[in-house]
Amino acid sequence: MALKAAVALFRSRFDGSEPKIAACAPGRVNLIGEHTDYCDGFVFPMALDRVTVVVGRAVEGDRCTIVSAASQIDEKDAIVVFDRPTPSTPTQRDEPKWANYVRGVLATFDDNRGNVPAFEAAIATTVPLGGGLSSSAALEVAAYAFLDALCPDHVPRRSDEEKALLCQKAEHEYAGVPCGIMDQFIAVMGKEGHALKIDCRTQKGDLVPLTDPSVTVLITNSHVRHELSGSEYPKRVQQCDGAARALGKADRKGLRDLKLEDVEAAKSKFDDELQYKRAKHVVSENARTNEAAEALHRGDYTLFGKLMNESHESLKNDFEVSCVQLDTLTELAREVDGVFGSRMTGGGFGGCTVTLVKSTAVQATQEHILKKYPEKYPTPTFFTSAPGMGAHVITLARAVEE
Ligand code: GLA
Repeated sequence: MALKAAVALFRSRFDGSEPKIAACAPGRVNLIGEHTDYCDGFVFPMALDRVTVVVGRAVEGDRCTIVSAASQIDEKDAIVVFDRPTPSTPTQRDEPKWANYVRGVLATFDDNRGNVPAFEAAIATTVPLGGGLSSSAALEVAAYAFLDALCPDHVPRRSDEEKALLCQKAEHEYAGVPCGIMDQFIAVMGKEGHALKIDCRTQKGDLVPLTDPSVTVLITNSHVRHELSGSEYPKRVQQCDGAARALGKADRKGLRDLKLEDVEAAKSKFDDELQYKRAKHVVSENARTNEAAEALHRGDYTLFGKLMNESHESLKNDFEVSCVQLDTLTELAREVDGVFGSRMTGGGFGGCTVTLVKSTAVQATQEHILKKYPEKYPTPTFFTSAPGMGAHVITLARAVEE
């Protein structure tokens, strides 16, 4: 769907000409392990079967033109034009904001050395924007995959880890979000039929199969807008630094080496209750994430669901990144027979919940939520997703004919 939309947009914007290259990257849903990645902890996301697609071709001259099909973007902002990156015209942050994800990747891909030709590109996506499903990493990683295909002789050729880190850098420097590595890693390395437990310290992933047709991953979008570049996300990152330092660690990454007993025993060392709660969340969430990955390996959905519920409570009470709509959606989901567990997913303050549910109970879960959810909030929407594939190039001729 996204591919067809991108190709159609390309043709209409660029005088009926054909794109030569297409690449895509998925959004993600994090099953468990939230706000742990920037503390060197564990996360357990899966790639969605929803993707962002970039299609395009190299052109003569110096002018890059990118057009987006995203309906949330104002028409005047849907097209951006800028000089191709060279030492004398390095790529700069600019309006509109969405294009900074692409500009950032463009700048870091080649360090503005001038090896990227001018290009025309069109972008379309099926990843909901601003919903905590990592639409930004999908755009960054899709842009990277596109540039990689556009410049096949570009050096250095990078490993998957390096690609992900480079896209993360682009997000830090061009979008101003001090995010961890989860979103870019899963967007690069997701494998169909698998969730990926990532150790954010070693930056190694452990694939866990998730193909049992009797269970479904249900995503519920609260349509409460989530805006990570606001102050709350960076504040949590800093609070984790403070909490770790109070316990004698150099920075937040030291939280990875602690057990819940250590945090409890050292309670008097924290500056305040808030620091204690932040540390408690990160440390307990790491333990839950490891336990959950093992539970999924064994097909123990009951335990997995229980850990999801506990994760949500910890994010709500100790890390304080949930909101009333996410709390209500998870509570309602848990009332349904056949639901194993439900939690907020992603950065929080809105966005989506993720629910692990028996496939036979998916319909009932949606109906129950819609019936009981307060009308004063935006009406939630639902979709299910199998674990999708990480970034890849799409063969255009065949795909467009399909
Ligand atoms: C956002 C960030 C991630 C991660 C999550 C919370 O999605 O981009 O790096 O920190 O929030 O788990």
